[in-house]
Amino acid sequence: MATRNIGLSLGADLCWPAAYEALVSKLDLAIPVDGEEVRFDVERVTVEPFGLRYKPKYDVVLDRVTHWHPTSREWIKKITLMDGVYVLNNPWSIQSVEKHTSYCAMMRLGMPIPETWMIPPKNPRGDTWIVSKSDVEATVARSHKFFDLSAVGRAVGYPAFIKPYDGGGWVGVKRVTDTASLLKAYDESGDRVHHLQAAVNDWDVFVRGIGVGPQVNLVRYDPDQPLHGRYRVDFNFLDGDDWVKAQRITRVINAFFNWDFNSCEMLRSNGELHPIDFANACPDSQVTSLHYHFPTLVKMKVRWSLFCAATRRPMRLNMDWQRFFDVQDPDATFDENLLAYDALAQEHFDTDRFEAFCAEHLGDFDTLAIEYFSSDAFYDVVEAKVRSLYPPHEIRQFTDHFFGMVQFWCHTERDRLGLNPPKEVAPAPEAPAAE
Ligand SMILES: Nc1ncnc2c1ncn2[C@@H]1O[C@H](COP(=O)(O)OP(=O)(O)O)[C@@H](O)[C@H]1O
Ligand SMILES: [Mg+2]
Repeated sequence: MATRNIGLSLGADLCWPAAYEALVSKLDLAIPVDGEEVRFDVERVTVEPFGLRYKPKYDVVLDRVTHWHPTSREWIKKITLMDGVYVLNNPWSIQSVEKHTSYCAMMRLGMPIPETWMIPPKNPRGDTWIVSKSDVEATVARSHKFFDLSAVGRAVGYPAFIKPYDGGGWVGVKRVTDTASLLKAYDESGDRVHHLQAAVNDWDVFVRGIGVGPQVNLVRYDPDQPLHGRYRVDFNFLDGDDWVKAQRITRVINAFFNWDFNSCEMLRSNGELHPIDFANACPDSQVTSLHYHFPTLVKMKVRWSLFCAATRRPMRLNMDWQRFFDVQDPDATFDENLLAYDALAQEHFDTDRFEAFCAEHLGDFDTLAIEYFSSDAFYDVVEAKVRSLYPPHEIRQFTDHFFGMVQFWCHTERDRLGLNPPKEVAPAPEAPAAE
């Protein structure tokens, strides 16, 4: 018998790791791989000194902190580079690909990203960039050209968004509607480099494509709601063609950048899906944000990580962008090219093999997940998460709210699987006898 070890590299995460561990334990898998019975063990990773030649025990690591926790990120670089561990996500890609690169690359693939300009920082002498003050002074004096920001505003058009080129979490994002508000926003923008991006106007659907491996869950989103209400519970908000297209866009972006776990924000306007923010590797995974959609995310993580561990999926250390550029046909429509990119993405994620793996080994996963997500044990997990975020007088109310949303998911999931008893249809009342 062999054991595949899965490590969870965590930050403030409480709920998804608990649910993940419970589901893997409930599955209690013993899978034949190359004539050997393979079992799975899950453990939480600790941060501690390590020799660069030490051998880690893990086959797969699910990580949530690479983008801000340097020790974990450098540990992940070592174990992927030297020891063949498979990690979600690729640490070099996370470190080097900001929003800016993601826009450039997807523009080159023909995606309808809104018009976007980069603007040098208002304060190039700020702390962010300074290596040597005299170098900065010389560079600014010799190379920075005075520019007319209002001309950039006119080129981009209004309304527009000024936002950090490497942003996240809505920090420093401002909507501007004319020259005056653009100048004011720029004056306040400090030493960070920003983009000015044309707003997608009159959008009717905001959708987030949450991808884990080849799986993509589309969720309607409302940025105007408070944090716990932004992910909407809605069905059929895109028709079949747009649904497939939004999934393809998400999968292509993730395969292109070697992101196994990422979310892609798209706005639909005039029938076109415009991706606006898709460098979100390691997106929010908390039940307090995802509520109804939380079980689907945890299930996607379980399926993909078990597949990667069982099959010892080799980690793609390098990005290979040229393959995507090579299949681009300048005479084809974007939809046709997207199909070709998606074929590469499916190949990258080994979709056929993954689906065969799930069909063969995870047959009872859906019912088992319903059992878990409707249990008292899961209620306690939700409560622990709520307790960590909410004031004492709101703990009960929000625990019941988020758990209740997940119970609604259990109900729709039972419907989907045909497990709910058929609805009793009350007989139509007899028509009163005519007088
Ligand atoms: N081009 C745009 N058109 C319309 N809304 C936008 C645009 N860019 C940003 N926004 C709004 O601003 C929010 C934050 O911008 P975003 O690019 O997602 O930055 P962050 O990386 O900080 O999340 C988006 O969720 C959206 O509501
Ligand atoms: Mg965003």
